[in-house]
Amino acid sequence: MMPASGPCYFVIFGATGNLATTHLLPALYELEAAGRLNEDLRFIAFARRAWGRDEWSHYLDLALKERVGSAYDQGSCERFAQRFDYVQGDLHDPAAYQKLMEELNKPRMGTCENVVFYLAIKPADFGDVVVNLDQAGINRRHGRHRIVVEKPFGEDIDSARQLNNLLHKYFDEERIYRIDHYLGKETVQNLFVFRFANTLIEPIWNRNYIDHVQITVAEKAGIGERADYYDGAGALRDMLQNHLMQLLTVVAMEPPACLEADALGDEKVKVLRSIRPIPRDAVNAYAFRAQYAPGKVDGRVVPGYREEPNVPRRSTTETFVSAKFYVDNWRWRGVPFYLRTGKRLAQQTTFIAIRFRHPPQLLFHEAAHEGIDPNWILLSIQPAECMQIEIHAKQPGLELNTRMVRLDATYRETRAAPVEAYQTLLLDVIKGDRSLFLRFDEVEWAWRVVDPILRHWANEKDFVHTYPAGTWGPEEANRLFDREDQTWRNRV
Ligand code: BG6
Repeated sequence: MMPASGPCYFVIFGATGNLATTHLLPALYELEAAGRLNEDLRFIAFARRAWGRDEWSHYLDLALKERVGSAYDQGSCERFAQRFDYVQGDLHDPAAYQKLMEELNKPRMGTCENVVFYLAIKPADFGDVVVNLDQAGINRRHGRHRIVVEKPFGEDIDSARQLNNLLHKYFDEERIYRIDHYLGKETVQNLFVFRFANTLIEPIWNRNYIDHVQITVAEKAGIGERADYYDGAGALRDMLQNHLMQLLTVVAMEPPACLEADALGDEKVKVLRSIRPIPRDAVNAYAFRAQYAPGKVDGRVVPGYREEPNVPRRSTTETFVSAKFYVDNWRWRGVPFYLRTGKRLAQQTTFIAIRFRHPPQLLFHEAAHEGIDPNWILLSIQPAECMQIEIHAKQPGLELNTRMVRLDATYRETRAAPVEAYQTLLLDVIKGDRSLFLRFDEVEWAWRVVDPILRHWANEKDFVHTYPAGTWGPEEANRLFDREDQTWRNRV
């Protein structure tokens, strides 16, 4: 881990863009308000708009008022704005990097060896930024400078490798922070604690007791104004290859030797390497895609994907994907992991549901009104965090009937404000802690896992199933299940 002490500059490329405005600035502000930012941390907003510091401060104030809701506080906001300088420039223009250099070298903090470059910009522009930083002499190898890149990291395995080679020309691996914001979410981190701090859990966390695992990331929203990016990506690249695959690795990984970046990375890569390759000629048995048609969400009529602004009318890009994976190792062999994600679904919810096997003998079957449901462990990530176990208990009374009760280990009080995933991750970047960031081999293996699906769909461009917006996706998505008694669970 790089030392956290001393002055630090944090440069945000694309400071007025969607990602910075909706996620980074609010998260950094919340860290400011919570007193978590060091005195000698300064920000530089780098963007194209012909603004000075005052216009930037005004923009920042408006953005925060709109985004942070009741957490907005005039004093914290002013303190936060004081930390910023604004550099106006085009990412592709070398002269702009001279201006950035001058800003970084202002006597205010002496020569600063510790700079974070956050690329909140299109991946297509990453190359120009790293080359220009280098040519301006800003990125000295001996410094503690580091670069943060957002997904999508490439659009397939080959382009991911190319991008990686390019970054490595200018930054060593330990100075590259590949962010997947799902790893900053509370429940995901809590999953580490749940699994590795409880001796109760470990003995049953395997193929002997677990029937299957479901991971659902359902969104009510459509693609909004993001057609330019989304139509080329689709749900498989946008969500499954990264966020859902990361959740799968955290559920399936072996206990790491320690919580350092490499120890975690090693275990996650082992899981990805153990995923059974999907046969090229059997992709349809493992993966399913669909696209939202017009429908109703929260009682409001919404357009279909093809009617969204800038989406080609004949696009077959998927907005829903479900897939089945097997982790072929001692712990998990034979246990299916079912993953699904989609836009314009019936609910906004992200959860992991782990279903256990039936007891070997159903002693109480006849006493119960219905057949005995299996046990489940439910880990809800959003909107509300929860950790629950569904178990059977006797119904009070003279009959020997069973009922399902929930052991609830939800640990946040309902009124306590949740910590945004980006807050955790940004603080880690500032401290130089890479444990929640992705190593390249993780990204590479995740691309390898989905590669047969990508290729198969790329060859089948004529048809895509559809589902009315506001539903749980097409019935056909159920065909992935191995057995009839396995079905999607739609709520925790
Ligand atoms: C982003 C995707 O990475 O994650 C978006 O590009 C998606 O399409 C978002 O909406 C979901 O993140 P969260 O934190 O809202 O679940």
